[in-house]
Amino acid sequence: MTSLSILPVRASNLFRTTFKRSQAHAAWFGASPNAHRTYSTRSTRITLNTGARIPAVGFGTFQDPDAQEAAVSRALQAGYRLIDTARVYDVEAQVGKGIKASGVPREEIFLATKLWCNQFHPDDVEGALDESLRELDTPYVDLFMMHYPCTFARGDERFPRDANGKMLAGTTTFVDTWRAMEALVEMGKTKAIGVSNFSMGEIQKLLDECDVVPAVHQMEVHPYLQQKDFNKWLQGWGIHVIQFSPLGNMNEFYRTTGWSKEVAQMIRVTDQPLLKELGEKYNKSPVQVVLAWGVNSGRSVIPKSVIDWQIQQNLEADFELEPEDLARIGMLDVKARFNDPSLDYQWRLYSDLEGIEGVVDGKTH
Ligand SMILES: NC(=O)c1ccc[n+]([C@@H]2O[C@H](COP(=O)([O-])OP(=O)(O)OC[C@H]3O[C@@H](n4cnc5c(N)ncnc54)[C@H](OP(=O)(O)O)[C@@H]3O)[C@@H](O)[C@H]2O)c1
Repeated sequence: MTSLSILPVRASNLFRTTFKRSQAHAAWFGASPNAHRTYSTRSTRITLNTGARIPAVGFGTFQDPDAQEAAVSRALQAGYRLIDTARVYDVEAQVGKGIKASGVPREEIFLATKLWCNQFHPDDVEGALDESLRELDTPYVDLFMMHYPCTFARGDERFPRDANGKMLAGTTTFVDTWRAMEALVEMGKTKAIGVSNFSMGEIQKLLDECDVVPAVHQMEVHPYLQQKDFNKWLQGWGIHVIQFSPLGNMNEFYRTTGWSKEVAQMIRVTDQPLLKELGEKYNKSPVQVVLAWGVNSGRSVIPKSVIDWQIQQNLEADFELEPEDLARIGMLDVKARFNDPSLDYQWRLYSDLEGIEGVVDGKTH
């Protein structure tokens, strides 16, 4: 079995990968003489607890606002039918235009967006979704999620801070927010509601105190942070998981954000020798193997890219992995969480989950 290449974090600077994307392209799309199998590409969909069917492979839209309209359009034309966005990404207008430009009928698309923390007051929730719908130029979304469980002070300021730069908390709780979101389903403005970045205890509180079971939990999952017990628990409740940052620390954001943890500097998930080895076996790239691992585990994945060949490659990441290979990828679970703005947001996120040590103070924006 290939040994696990996890670096001592302090030594990580020595090992920062210089493997360029162009090289990756040549390496994984060049001739592959050893390939001896054909694993056909699928278009898996999973049934949510609402009865709706969500695609297993979707398209993320965080960052690169100037490129998103064209990227969304091309992604839809290539065959993606799940688009993930959020109010706070400031790309909803581009996403809406991209959908229109693609020519793909709206009803064929599973469109998800998220409520940001300064609009968690129950009286603000419907208006916030209305703003998103206006930007997205659509009468409804398929999924509306609370982006984080933490409530920020009401107002236009997305990151409301005091004079010392400390985030100002809101006065309502995510339970109040959830109840307001439940009403939006009744109104037909969203087909389903979900959460993101919640702990087990926080979801349990919704289950105990509210009516609607979340259809989805969007959370960080990749081979370095597999959250096996939590995933099992969510599955038991019929809550579908969408993996964000499915490629782990591929996104440069995690190496450079103010609260970036040292662990984010470790060798990229997709440079793990095991994944390269499996890529050769399946005639796929390590990125595709990582995404296929998520899909074969019953989850959706929403890789982000604005580069055509990557967009295409990610779409072709829905193929069957053999159980023994899934088990080997299971060994990469070092519980490295990259997305943890707990100190900046003044809220102990993921409190009962794995990978919360090493939190660093620093601002998101
Ligand atoms: N709910 C939340 O709090 C939350 C948090 C984070 C993310 N998200 C969602 O999840 C989506 C994905 O997460 P993410 O953007 O953090 O991370 P990611 O999708 O795991 O990684 C994105 C990075 O990987 C690169 N990439 C994509 N496909 C590739 C390929 N085939 N080969 C080589 N490199 C490839 C991209 O390059 P290029 O950009 O150069 O194309 C980008 O730098 C976001 O866009 C967003 O929709 C949600």
